[in-house]
Amino acid sequence: MTETANSTRNPAAWWRDAVVYQIYPRAFADADGNAIGDLKGIASRVPYLARLGVDAVWLSPFYPSALADGGYDIDDFRDVDPRIGTLADFDEMVAALHAAGIKVVVDIVPNHSSNRHAWFQAALAAGPGSPERERYIFRDGLGPDRDQPPTDWTCSFGGPAWEPVGDGQFYYHMFAPEQPDWNWDNREVRDEYLKTLRFWADRGVDGFRVDVANSLAKDFSEPLPGSAELAKIPVGPDHPLYDRDELDDIYAEWRALFNTYDPPRFAVGEVWLENRERLARYATDKSLGQVFNFDLLRADFRAGEFRSIVSEHLAIAERAGSTTTWVLSNHDVVRHATRYGLPLTVPGMPFVGQGPTWDRDRQWLLTGGANPVEDTALGLRRALAATAFLMALPGSLYLYNGEELGLREVADIPDDARQDPIFFRSPGFDVGRDGCRVPLPWTPDGPSFGFGPGRANLPQPDWFADYAVSVEDADDASPLNWYRRALAARRRLIAATPAKLEWIDSPADTLHFRRGGWRVFTNFGDAPAPLPAGRVALTTAPLDGGLVPGAATVWMA
Ligand code: NOJ
Repeated sequence: MTETANSTRNPAAWWRDAVVYQIYPRAFADADGNAIGDLKGIASRVPYLARLGVDAVWLSPFYPSALADGGYDIDDFRDVDPRIGTLADFDEMVAALHAAGIKVVVDIVPNHSSNRHAWFQAALAAGPGSPERERYIFRDGLGPDRDQPPTDWTCSFGGPAWEPVGDGQFYYHMFAPEQPDWNWDNREVRDEYLKTLRFWADRGVDGFRVDVANSLAKDFSEPLPGSAELAKIPVGPDHPLYDRDELDDIYAEWRALFNTYDPPRFAVGEVWLENRERLARYATDKSLGQVFNFDLLRADFRAGEFRSIVSEHLAIAERAGSTTTWVLSNHDVVRHATRYGLPLTVPGMPFVGQGPTWDRDRQWLLTGGANPVEDTALGLRRALAATAFLMALPGSLYLYNGEELGLREVADIPDDARQDPIFFRSPGFDVGRDGCRVPLPWTPDGPSFGFGPGRANLPQPDWFADYAVSVEDADDASPLNWYRRALAARRRLIAATPAKLEWIDSPADTLHFRRGGWRVFTNFGDAPAPLPAGRVALTTAPLDGGLVPGAATVWMA
């Protein structure tokens, strides 16, 4: 890594080691009492974010939307949902964040629009063969009545990937039917996105998180494979849907646009991809600049898994000339304080594990019968230990709103309150992602625990009272105060150390590394481990004399 890898030496490279706090706008803070969090709510919490010590916020979509997929179904890419605010509110929020030294990253969703988008409505009205339909992926139906879908593919949320429009044609949707996919071979679509990127960059946005960044370019040339055949095509240049080479041209155009700004705008791609060699492509300075590393979302709390993920992603980032991201939670996965509190195996259940998906069986583990198996204390200890370990690594750290409170997944949302399309399309087998999207508790009381003056858009459990910001604020030993101390220590570490880390040999179930004069030791096991020599600068659990307890991290400076 070069000397400029460190943001303290090159402010334009702020994102390379930034702490980015993901705000799920509907769940963060509701200023107007309509049950949906809003931009004024975010602006009102800037002092909270500044005191927490984050460098940037990333806002999940706040654009006009019917909320068929939590706002990732977008009606207008250059406006604000009226329930969430106005463009003027956006400008005020950005000004307040910038005044506090916090950068702003917004979500760009380039794979699809919503079915209410003006261009999709125009495509429906214009009919088969029209230029309007060319902006999306329309195909004729099969069979004498053209009422059979062009292929038997299923969409990512379950159910068919093609939706009929009633005139013999179907359109393709990788996600919900309310999310028709764009045709990225169409120049108008490309120009439209350049316009959208410029629109937000001109409004002062510092960067972009790019949704399903590996899926824009597609090959729908005939004959289309059936689903069995499709499943056998390796993801990459020959796959019709994922990780095609044509993406390079798309992102080269975006990069040219980003580089017209000073400092250049930054982007991070959401890419779930097994092929490591190809993952690095998205992170070069010819492309988006950074790509998410999601491996920790699928990993158990085990030293060996953590070590190999760290080594692998530092190497990928170095090859790309970028930095990697450390992520334990986001709006798509079960909160990690819960994942880490579940047993790895349960008799009679082939896989419990700690992967990101959330099915009925695992929901039962939390709520079923008299013996829910989530060990909440252990889950929190491991969550803090993992976070402290990651915080000291080279690269940037992405936090998901509420994790600084130690929030757990809300497992017992009644079916009739659920919102996630995954729940409706599985159908009902996978409970979906609502459990990590429940509005945050700010106070121990009030109609929505201080989220807003009214109710919340998903039911909040009684135990949220113990996790409220005001409660944790007053408790020096709370997760919130630990995050504040840890992020302050991280700033000192970054200012003082080179980007590289060196591993130090350590006992089984532990990891130990050095960055400059700082050393970090994590005990992943249950039994206490000997405390390495050095002055303790940060811990996630009280030390027992010369021992580091199980599930704990210590920094030494
Ligand atoms: C990834 C987003 O993170 C997820 O929430 C969304 O459902 C899909 N992309 C579709 O936009």
